[in-house]
Amino acid sequence: MAQPLFSLDGQSLITPESFSNKLPSPNRDDETDLLRTAEAEFAIVINIAIQRFSAGKNLPDAVRWLIGQLHEVRHKFGAAVWQKLIPIIQDHPSAKILQQCPFTRWSFDKPRGYSGDASLIDFIYGHPAVAEEVARSTRLGLDIFDYTINAPGPVAVRERRDILTRYVDETAARTGSDTEVLAIAAGHLREAEASKALAEGRLKRWVALDQDPESIGSISSQFHGTSVEPVNGSVRGLLARKHRIGTFDLIYAAGLYDYLTDKVAIRLTQICMDMLKPGGVFLFANFSDEMADDGYMESYMNWELLQRSEADMWRISHRSATEDTEKTVWFGANRNIIYAAIRKRS
Ligand SMILES: C[S@@+](CC[C@H](N)C(=O)[O-])C[C@H]1O[C@@H](n2cnc3c(N)ncnc32)[C@H](O)[C@@H]1O
Repeated sequence: MAQPLFSLDGQSLITPESFSNKLPSPNRDDETDLLRTAEAEFAIVINIAIQRFSAGKNLPDAVRWLIGQLHEVRHKFGAAVWQKLIPIIQDHPSAKILQQCPFTRWSFDKPRGYSGDASLIDFIYGHPAVAEEVARSTRLGLDIFDYTINAPGPVAVRERRDILTRYVDETAARTGSDTEVLAIAAGHLREAEASKALAEGRLKRWVALDQDPESIGSISSQFHGTSVEPVNGSVRGLLARKHRIGTFDLIYAAGLYDYLTDKVAIRLTQICMDMLKPGGVFLFANFSDEMADDGYMESYMNWELLQRSEADMWRISHRSATEDTEKTVWFGANRNIIYAAIRKRS
């Protein structure tokens, strides 16, 4: 897998240009011709989509079709051509239509200054925190939203949240009243809302670390008086061992590795392994290279993710943890997100 051009830290902006090396590319000589062909293919696709939007019938299905077509175009023409096609798509009048969808618009506008902020994920969760923003949308925008949040990627993200809740609750059941959990890049910690262990006061502490002070503020007010401990910290701080936060029975990161180079991912995983108690588990998730929404996300949403294969997840796990650890890698139900879990020896 090719690597993005930079390593994410607390201050980095995550933009499509950072990922331009990711897909296999054609010869430079062929590039101009290919770009013309790709533009022509996009023109056909978007004209059909706009006709379907104008007809006003079964809009979610029209959006599903468009997302599928953009995925095909992205893969067919390779990284160099696709990166040049992205601004063409973003400047096309269709962007004004698709960005009426509140989820698409938030991602494109990046109100918090970077891609993939916790409020963006709240659209996927259908969380009341973004209800006002959704309500401000046009009828057409809401119809598009109807499909975008039910596309395979968002479906997988909702499953990921539920998997995290389950891991926390199972850890509490296994380890008893001393359970200590660390969420890295916690966002708004929405997985805590359904946690029985948290609600029943069975966790000693659930440390929620994120680089965004707004997200930390949201966690502080929502979970005030519980065992949740918000920490304004970053991957950079963890790598420098700056945060003195102790050891844990469960550490997890969701929505973070998708932005990390292998080098940073491996280093972070090693540090997390050091922060685990004996028998503890480190779990990390990544969008898989089988994800279906990438073309739409990278163009109309201006949201790039570093997709990983099963082999990529195994490589990170093997390079980060000793042989005596128990490692597993598996796909979520629709294979758009892949997981790795590493259990430390008891
Ligand atoms: C896609 S959200 C995921 C939120 C949450 N884990 C979830 O699954 O809903 C990504 C989060 O990663 C945080 N983040 C990004 N880069 C970070 C870094 N270098 N250190 C700590 N947090 C980071 C962002 O602030 C954001 O809240």
